[in-house]
Amino acid sequence: MTSKDPRDSSTTRSQQPAIRTIIAERVSRRGFLLGTGTTLGAVAASGFVGSLFSGQAHAQAAQSSLTFTELKRVHDETHHVSDGYRADVVVGWGDPMTADAGELDVAKMTAAEQARRFGYNCDYIAFMPLPRGSKASDHGLLCVNNEYVSFNVMFPDFPDDDGASDRFTAEQVALNNMAIGHSIVEVKREGGVWSVVTDSPLNRRITLDTPMTIAGPLAGHAAMKTSYDPEGRTAKGTNYNCGGGVTPWGTVLTCEEGASDTFGGDLSKNPQAAVLERYGYDGSDYYGRARFDDRFKLDVEVNEPNRFDWVVEIDPYDPASVPVKRTALGRMAHEASTVVVNKDGRVVVYMGDDDYFEYLYRFVTDAALDPANPAASRDILDAGTLSVARFDADGMVTWLPLVHGQGPLTVENGFADQADVLLKTRLAADALGATPMDRPEDVETNPVTGRVYAVMTKNKKMTADKLNPVNTRPENHYGHIVELIPPGGAGAAADHTAESYNWDLFVLAGNPRDPEHGARFHADTSENGWFVNPDNLTFDPQGRMFVATDGANDFDIPDGIYAVDTEGPARGLPKLLFSAPHGAEVTGPFFTPDGTTLFVSVQHPGEDSETTASLTTRWPDFREGGLPRPAVVAIQRMDGQEVAS
Ligand code: FEO
Ligand code: CA
Ligand code: CA
Repeated sequence: MTSKDPRDSSTTRSQQPAIRTIIAERVSRRGFLLGTGTTLGAVAASGFVGSLFSGQAHAQAAQSSLTFTELKRVHDETHHVSDGYRADVVVGWGDPMTADAGELDVAKMTAAEQARRFGYNCDYIAFMPLPRGSKASDHGLLCVNNEYVSFNVMFPDFPDDDGASDRFTAEQVALNNMAIGHSIVEVKREGGVWSVVTDSPLNRRITLDTPMTIAGPLAGHAAMKTSYDPEGRTAKGTNYNCGGGVTPWGTVLTCEEGASDTFGGDLSKNPQAAVLERYGYDGSDYYGRARFDDRFKLDVEVNEPNRFDWVVEIDPYDPASVPVKRTALGRMAHEASTVVVNKDGRVVVYMGDDDYFEYLYRFVTDAALDPANPAASRDILDAGTLSVARFDADGMVTWLPLVHGQGPLTVENGFADQADVLLKTRLAADALGATPMDRPEDVETNPVTGRVYAVMTKNKKMTADKLNPVNTRPENHYGHIVELIPPGGAGAAADHTAESYNWDLFVLAGNPRDPEHGARFHADTSENGWFVNPDNLTFDPQGRMFVATDGANDFDIPDGIYAVDTEGPARGLPKLLFSAPHGAEVTGPFFTPDGTTLFVSVQHPGEDSETTASLTTRWPDFREGGLPRPAVVAIQRMDGQEVAS
C-alpha cells in the first residue's frame, strides 16, 4: 500500500533490523533450508542454478535474458530510466478528462473540478486495447486505480499528524472523496509518444460516490442494508483501490484494500464490532469523513463498512456501465485479483490480503468460460469456491475451501451460511488453519511457465516464535517472493484448480551484502540490482518478471522497477530499469500486448515532505509554487522495440 498506511506508518516503523540478532537469523535460515530441501532439490534438477549470495564476484556473470544496461541508482527529485530508454509522463493528478475542463493549477483544485480530472495516487494500471478484444498496442484505455490522497502535500500547512482528521474542512473532505477511486482515459501513441484523448466519451471517473451493484452471495443480505439502500443491493462508491486484474471478457477488476481507517464513530456500539475489529476498524476517521457524513459513522450507519473491502468489476468500454462488487471473491484488504483461465475453462482469481499475518486466497468459478462468447460469462464470478492457502514444510501448498458446512465453518461455530462465511472471510480462514503471511501484496502468473508468484512486501511484526516455512525471517523489513508451482505441466497445461501445488521461495529481498538482511538473490546480483519491499508484479510476453517496489526510501534508495529472469541460468538475478523520485513508490506495472510499452504508476511523490512548505520534490512539473503530482509513466525503448529484448 503506502507509507501513509497505518500498517507501515513512518512514525512507527522500525527502520533497521537492530533488534534481530544474526544468530537468530542463522537458525531460521538453516530451518528454511532443511524444511524445503526436497523442493529446492527438485527445482535444481529442473535447471535452477541461482544460489545464496556469496559476497564474491563471479568470474563470469550469468547470462541474463534482459538486454538493457542496468540503471545506476539515483535517489533524487526526479525519475530515471536505463540508457536507451525513455520514460514519459502520460497522465497525472488533475489532468483534464473532458473537452471543456482545460488546464488547472492543482493548488486550486475543488471537488467539482476533481470530478472531471484524473484522480490522485495512481496504483494498478490496466491497458485495455481499442477496439475491444483486439491486441492493439498504440491505442487503448488506461484504467488506473486512485488509491488515496496524500493530503500533507495537497493542502497548505496540513501536516499528517494526530490532529489531521479534525482539521479537514467540508470542501477538503469532498475533494478527497472525488480524488480517489478509478480513472479511465483513452490514450494513443503517435510518433512514439503516448497522449490522452482529452475529449474521449470513454473517459470516466469512478469515486467514493459512484453507484455500484452488489452481486454474489451478499446481494440483498441483511448485513448489506443501509438507511439509504434498504434493499442492500446498491453500494455507494469504492475506496482504497489498490491492485487489480483484467478478465478475458474485457473488464477490469479493482481491489478495495480495506476501509478500516476511513470510518469514525464508536466501534463498541456497532453490533458487528468483533468482526470489524478483526478487519482493523477502530473509528479513527483518518480522512475526516465521519465529521460531515453519517455514512462513515460506525455507530450510525452500522452496515456501511460491510459494503467495502470487495473486488469491484468495471466495464471500461461502456461509460454508462454500473461497477459490480463481486462478493463471492471474499472480504479482505484485497491487493490483487489476477485472473487465469484454467485449461478446463474455469476462471481462477488469485488474491492477497495485505495486512500483517493475513492470507493468500484463490477463487475458482463453478462454470467454465465460453471462449467463443466470453461476454456471455460476465457474471461468472458470482458463483465459485474461495480457498485459502496453507503452506507446509514439505514444499506443498494446499488450498482450503471456505465453504459453509465443511470442516469448522458451521452454524455452531458462528457461520450462519455461505454469505456469512464471505462476510467474515478472515475469521473463516483463521478457523481453517491458513498460513499467516508477511503482508501479501500482488500475485501474478507467468504466462510462459504457468507458475504463480505471490509477493510478501514486509512484516515488521514477525517474531521468531511466529515463523513458518514460507515466512522465514523475524522482523522482515525486506519482503520476499513466493513461487507456487501448479501440477499438470508448464504454461497452459498448469492446473490452477488443483488442491495442492509445490512451492518455493523465489527471492528473499534485502541487501545481499549485508548479512543482517538475510537476503537471497542470484549470486551475480549487482549493487544496483537488489531490491527491498516488492509490491506489484507483471510479466512481459516472454515471461520475464518486472517487480515494482514500495518502501525502499527507508533504506535510502529509490523505489523502482526491477526486471528478473524466472528461468534459466540467471533465475533470480534482478536488474534495475527505472527509479522513482523522492517519497514515491512505483506501482501498477502493465505491458501493452506487444511488449513495447511498460506503463507504471509513480505514487505519492514527495509524500515524505512534512508539508507543502518543505517539498522534497515537485515532480513531474517542477513548477515554482506547484505541487507534486502522482502520474502514470510510459517506459519504452528509444528504438520502439520490445522492452528488455
Ligand atoms: Fe495498496 Fe497493499 O498496497
Ligand atoms: Ca505496499
Ligand atoms: Ca500495493
